[in-house]
Amino acid sequence: MNVTVFGTGYVGLVQGTILAEVGHQVICVDVDAEKIEKLKQGHIPIYEPGLEALVKENSASGRLQFTTDATMAVAHGDIQFIAVGTPSDEDGSADLKHVLKVAETIAEHMEAHRIIVDKSTVPVGTADKVSARMAEVLERRGRAELTFDVVSNPEFLKEGSAVADCQKPDRIIIGTEDEATVEVMRELYAPFSRQHEKIIVMDVKSAELTKYAANCMLATKISFMNEIANLAERLGADIEAVRQGIGSDPRIGYHFIYPGVGYGGSCFPKDVQALIRTADAIGFDSKVLKAVEARNAEQKTTLFAKIREHFGGELAGRTLALWGLAFKPNTDDMREAPSRVLMEALWEAGARVQAYDPEAMEETQRLYGTRDELTLCGTKETALKGADALVIVTEWQSFRAPDFDLIHQQLSEPSIFDGRNMYDPARMARKGFTYYSVGRLPSRGRNQKAI
Ligand code: UDX
Repeated sequence: MNVTVFGTGYVGLVQGTILAEVGHQVICVDVDAEKIEKLKQGHIPIYEPGLEALVKENSASGRLQFTTDATMAVAHGDIQFIAVGTPSDEDGSADLKHVLKVAETIAEHMEAHRIIVDKSTVPVGTADKVSARMAEVLERRGRAELTFDVVSNPEFLKEGSAVADCQKPDRIIIGTEDEATVEVMRELYAPFSRQHEKIIVMDVKSAELTKYAANCMLATKISFMNEIANLAERLGADIEAVRQGIGSDPRIGYHFIYPGVGYGGSCFPKDVQALIRTADAIGFDSKVLKAVEARNAEQKTTLFAKIREHFGGELAGRTLALWGLAFKPNTDDMREAPSRVLMEALWEAGARVQAYDPEAMEETQRLYGTRDELTLCGTKETALKGADALVIVTEWQSFRAPDFDLIHQQLSEPSIFDGRNMYDPARMARKGFTYYSVGRLPSRGRNQKAI
């Protein structure tokens, strides 16, 4: 089938590439000429395991093309994906200007029936807006006889495993009431739904809400767990034991109940806020979602509070080694990353940071530039040199079994503030560390150096 994808961000690029991989003819279009030029040369603007090889392979076979030429792109695809960004407005609601601009572009250039697929995460009611905008443009062109159908087909991929998620989706949501469209969409996704039926057809508004409900449910699990972790710390319980205790109930499950330093990334914070705004706009007070958001904002400050308290409220002149900058492992994404809230609080308090992340160093440099209070280190070991304590914010694999003797030797005051519960508190104490984690009492080793 001929498919056009507007937007070469995470969602668009991965979706376009995966569709080409199963044999569809895909054109990806973007207004950013520099990005398109780079993609043509096989340079991927994001870090996503497995993507680069697939882009190169499918470009070479001619199934995947990149262009800025909207006329050509609209002529190509019977199916036109909209996978452009929906940034948050100042008030937190999703900004639809890019989505509606693409709708206009399609209506401007189309010469035959088109299926428009909303792949971006867009508020309930967006498909109607896209339809209305397209109808206006067609009317203006004097081509009101041209037909189209707008489908909601939300994406559930995770950064860091986007390719695998897209190739093996849990479900494929198709929101439309048009039977002919359903048939076309079934054919498009047939290669992904072979072994088990993955396609769930529903009306367009339910499909739009499904995406928000999924992300908000997951964010709720995290905030709930963070709340229980805070309680556990105060009650003297161990959240890791509690996590296993509740996860064993299949109604609760083990996924997404890891306490930590709060959720970040491009989806959860934005989607929780957007659904709150959607509810507000129709006069409904979404009490649960507001609490989820508030708990998350507070959770991002908890590590800093522990560090400050440990150093007796005085951080001026201190140096902290920081492991992990990206909002989660296997990505270089720093959007809404808890590391940013932490670093900014440390700087505000007069401390310096020596940071290391396996992927997000360039992005950190881009965000914060060169400044005295931040040293970006080439390895996790160099980040320790001359530091007072170690702080861990992202649970990268390479942090799981570090050389604890070296860490102990390097730190002037061997304490570890672990925002991801990577280590066993008893073991840390045996190694001579003062060890703080989330939802567990601090453990204190003997043989402490004097502060
Ligand atoms: C998420 C959804 O998982 C995905 O389905 C949707 O399409 C987009 O949003 P992503 O933002 O890439 O994907 O990351 P995810 O792996 O879900 O993690 C989100 C955040 O939650 C991270 O900051 C992570 O550290 C945090 N998290 C996750 C926890 O704190 N605890 C957990 O148990 C799980």
